[in-house]
Amino acid sequence: MPLGWENWTLPPTSAEYPGAEPFVPERATLPRLRGAVDDCRGCDLFRDATQGVMGDGPVPARLMLIGEQPGDKEDLAGLPFVGPAGRLLDRALVEAGIDPAGTFRTNVVKHFRHVVKGGKRIHRSPVRWQVAACEPWLLAELELVRPEIVIILGSTAGQAVYGPTFRVGATRGRALEWPAEQMGAGPSAAVATAHPSSVLRSREREKDRAALVADLVVARELLARR
Ligand code: URA
Ligand code: SF4
Repeated sequence: MPLGWENWTLPPTSAEYPGAEPFVPERATLPRLRGAVDDCRGCDLFRDATQGVMGDGPVPARLMLIGEQPGDKEDLAGLPFVGPAGRLLDRALVEAGIDPAGTFRTNVVKHFRHVVKGGKRIHRSPVRWQVAACEPWLLAELELVRPEIVIILGSTAGQAVYGPTFRVGATRGRALEWPAEQMGAGPSAAVATAHPSSVLRSREREKDRAALVADLVVARELLARR
């Protein structure tokens, strides 16, 4: 649990929503995690979502990317980063010299938080206690995948790892120390960058896309030096 989250781990109705821990299987394999996440009742987000979405990719993998939560398409497909943000991410990875198929991608929250407006499902970022409730799944994935470098996509993922004061703007594009005391032994470094969804929404899309690619290059270079 990152520092600064201590008072956020209990949801408003903590007896009803105990966090993910009791639902995470021991001796996890990716198929077991995938089977179990759908039955998680650790917070309220399972109620409106189609299914829980576990990370996907090779196990182990040298590079792990951590996003926010599944989007509309991911919720329906049961796989992370299969929608527009995922396509942008794939292209950015290729441009940075990273094979997308060699990476493990996941999210800090495994169910899609949204509101329905005019028949459409509109993304809502998860709130802190929901992120904290979901963290045991991410820890299980980290243990399984054992990445050498983690790429943090956006501020929700950054705050899940580094705590609520984390800002992408202040940290992006350089090697960050992994907070092993809070998150457990892990990668040798993390690199933060913007979330691909924010690039999609940006009015300076080309500039922001180039900045995303540049940050991914930093991660590739860190890997190459190991
Ligand atoms: N955005 C995310 O953060 N994760 C996904 O899986 C898709 C979109
Ligand atoms: Fe469990 Fe996470 Fe889904 Fe909440 S969002 S129900 S903690 S898997």
